Amino acid sequence: MSLVTMKYEMARAEKGGYAVPAFNFFSFDNLVGIAKGAAEKKSPVIAMATMGGIKVMGEKAVVKMCEGVAADYGINMVLHLDHCTDIELLKRCVDNGFTSVMIDSSKKEFAENVEDTAKTVEYASRYGVTVESELGHVGGKEDDIVVDDMSVLFTEPEKALEFVNLTGIDCLAVAVGTVHGFYKAKPKLDFPRISKIHELLPKCPLVLHGGTGVPYDDFREAIKRGVRKINIGTELKVHGVFDTSKAGYMDPNAKDDPRYVSKLVIAKVSSIVEELIGVMGSENKASC
Ligand code: 13P
Repeated sequence: MSLVTMKYEMARAEKGGYAVPAFNFFSFDNLVGIAKGAAEKKSPVIAMATMGGIKVMGEKAVVKMCEGVAADYGINMVLHLDHCTDIELLKRCVDNGFTSVMIDSSKKEFAENVEDTAKTVEYASRYGVTVESELGHVGGKEDDIVVDDMSVLFTEPEKALEFVNLTGIDCLAVAVGTVHGFYKAKPKLDFPRISKIHELLPKCPLVLHGGTGVPYDDFREAIKRGVRKINIGTELKVHGVFDTSKAGYMDPNAKDDPRYVSKLVIAKVSSIVEELIGVMGSENKASC
């Protein structure tokens, strides 16, 4: 019943052949819904704060919120910093108790990406904190980071091997056909590419970003081929929190009580989380 590292959950997922679901959160109700869903399904779970979310909530509060929610729901939770481009913020998150961080220098040249990532590993590993980094570019809009369609670049397997060897990261985010945000057309995942990267890097868990709207069978196939963490953000942000809050505040039964809306948000987020846990095969795999 505490915060655990991503590395710990990834090792268990590798043994069990499932993926650990990773959900972005932007508010307290959002986080509680994630914990509730994970507790109902007895699943490991990764709660992901973004740079934008931390600007609103504060990194110290985020850590305390996650510790408290994990204790209240009797679960282990990974607290992960998602897509961080600011190394000073990343260090503060490590110092304050995040158990996992993602450095995102994927828009930079290979050598600079290696340099930023290696520096992050050097810092985070002193505290036993897990490091994820991205090679290639996943397209779309994530938090305040935008990668337009023309800049999407799939991960080259040989380059991925070189990148992991040079940096010593724990998990690799791969660009294999998903994008952040809602899809304009059905996504087309490059499954042979996932297999090839996994074959070259059997000990480095692969992370799939842009999970919102990906057909469930594609998730299952990606997991078979070595994906061990799947990120979901937009689905919870828009359908789970925003649409539900809007409808809740318009509901005459809400009167002037924000708790009415909080309960609706928690229930909706939790139901989305529970469904996705079923798809990722992580049900009943909780480590406590
Ligand atoms: P979606 O918003 O498309 O679900 O992607 C989330 C994500 O990859 C966070 O890193």
